[in-house]
Amino acid sequence: TERTLSIIKPDATRRNLTGKINAKFEDAGLRIVAQKRIQLTIAQAQQFYAVHSERPFFGELTEFMASAPVVVQVLEGEGAIAKNREVMGATNPADAAAGTIRAEFAESVGENSVHGSDAPETAREEIAFFFSGLELVG
Ligand code: GTP
Ligand code: MG
Repeated sequence: TERTLSIIKPDATRRNLTGKINAKFEDAGLRIVAQKRIQLTIAQAQQFYAVHSERPFFGELTEFMASAPVVVQVLEGEGAIAKNREVMGATNPADAAAGTIRAEFAESVGENSVHGSDAPETAREEIAFFFSGLELVG
């Protein structure tokens, strides 16, 4: 089985949507094997999203990610990386398929409720960014 990093973003924690979002993951067969609620500093958000540092929206993105608590979690299951992104829906909620998290809950392309790792290598790096091996409890 595969593992992926998921983040419930500030727009969703502010609106008290963490349970509804996690119900979608669990209904899709993904298991939450690690989970914590934290508030990122701007510096931590910049480090996490360093791959986007040259993008015009980098400042907006990192300030948003540090603007309220997030829930960081590890999802486990068969094909978890792709399955998570399927349940999340397209980055821009206007393009997201019906029934996906972003179609139902996201407010805009920036404030889009969830993050999910996009490949096995980034999943490994992103899980290690937030969790130690001791915190992963399958
Ligand atoms: P993540 O799972 O968060 O990585 O989303 P993604 O893989 O669907 O999108 P991508 O990696 O391309 O972009 C990362 C994040 O940057 C997005 O989820 C958005 O929060 C933000 N973002 C992307 N495009 C824009 C944009 O045009 N404007 C703003 N403000 N934010 C954007
Ligand atoms: Mg991405």
